[in-house]
Amino acid sequence: MNARIIGTGSYLPERVVHNTELEKLMDTTDEWIRERTGIEQRHYAAEGETTVDMAEHAARRAIEAAGLAPGDIDLIVFATATPDLVFPNCGTLLQARLGCTGAPAFSVEAACSGFIYALSIADKFVRAGEAKRALVVGAETLTRITDFTDRTTAILFADGAGAVVLAASEEPGILSTQLHADGSYKDLLYCTGGVSKGYPPDSGNRAVIRMAGRETFKVAVTMLGNSVDEVLAKNGLPKSAINWLVPHQANIRIIQAVARKLDLPMERVIVTVQDHGNTSAASVPLALDTGVRDGRIRKGDLILLEAFGGGFTWGAALVRM
Ligand code: UT7
Repeated sequence: MNARIIGTGSYLPERVVHNTELEKLMDTTDEWIRERTGIEQRHYAAEGETTVDMAEHAARRAIEAAGLAPGDIDLIVFATATPDLVFPNCGTLLQARLGCTGAPAFSVEAACSGFIYALSIADKFVRAGEAKRALVVGAETLTRITDFTDRTTAILFADGAGAVVLAASEEPGILSTQLHADGSYKDLLYCTGGVSKGYPPDSGNRAVIRMAGRETFKVAVTMLGNSVDEVLAKNGLPKSAINWLVPHQANIRIIQAVARKLDLPMERVIVTVQDHGNTSAASVPLALDTGVRDGRIRKGDLILLEAFGGGFTWGAALVRM
């Protein structure tokens, strides 16, 4: 049995923040942000709007696109680093809203790679016959852990949600997923606080993102390059078989480096970083839904998803749509 993506959905909060608005808040310029990151604008959640609020919109759209009702969902795997509450987990909070109670629902925390991890887990449930219609979500309110006094990170991160529905199928779907982590890099990209460790007074008693950007960039390009090679080799497929690259949207220069590695022209890459910024676990399903809804990604296409994030964690998935 295979797991096929039969529906995608996404949601972006209403408020759009252009680079020029950030110029007024910190010592930065629209030109620097565009050149170094590719970002032009991003979306910020409204006050009181939570990760699960956004996830609910994305999930309902994915379920509708799949031609299902919420009650058909028998597994929820929810990737986020910015949960509404410590517990119940976001998967169960979403489940209560959708009304598909009884099935397993849980969260996965693997920072920006969260969605690839969640997809890999859900795929295994479906292949094992333990779920028939799984909802896989990536959603974040990163602005709640952004330090707006740190221009090196504040210009990058944003909010949003994306979701897919996986269905058990005899046709091929998710061909394989390759996950990796190297915790020895924990100090290059992290959040400064948490429930058990506490919250540092020097960040106003809230947890905020810290990143050594240049070092993270280098490792990301190397590991993502290795990952895409690995997932193709595992499936015995050449680079030329890929129809679309759907990458994590952290930086246009990282995306271009992976595309070059795959000999893929940028016309074959779904790029949303200019409009969405870095939405961590939401970025890959947001980009996927963009490509599906605007008609670029079609049934039968071979797509390669990849992501890299704090931990470090990284991974790739090869998917027949
Ligand atoms: O999603 C999880 C994974 N995340 C990533 O993979 C992100 C990886 N890193 C990056 O995308 C890039 O490293 C950044 C976009 C974060 C930074 O770009 P960079 O080209 O690596 O810049 P840099 O850190 O080397 O900084 C270059 C200069 C510095 O000034 P000096 O030391 O050369 O005088 C920074 O202080 O740019 C300065 N700078 C800024 N200037 C204007 C840093 N941030 C800003 C800013 N506006 N916002």
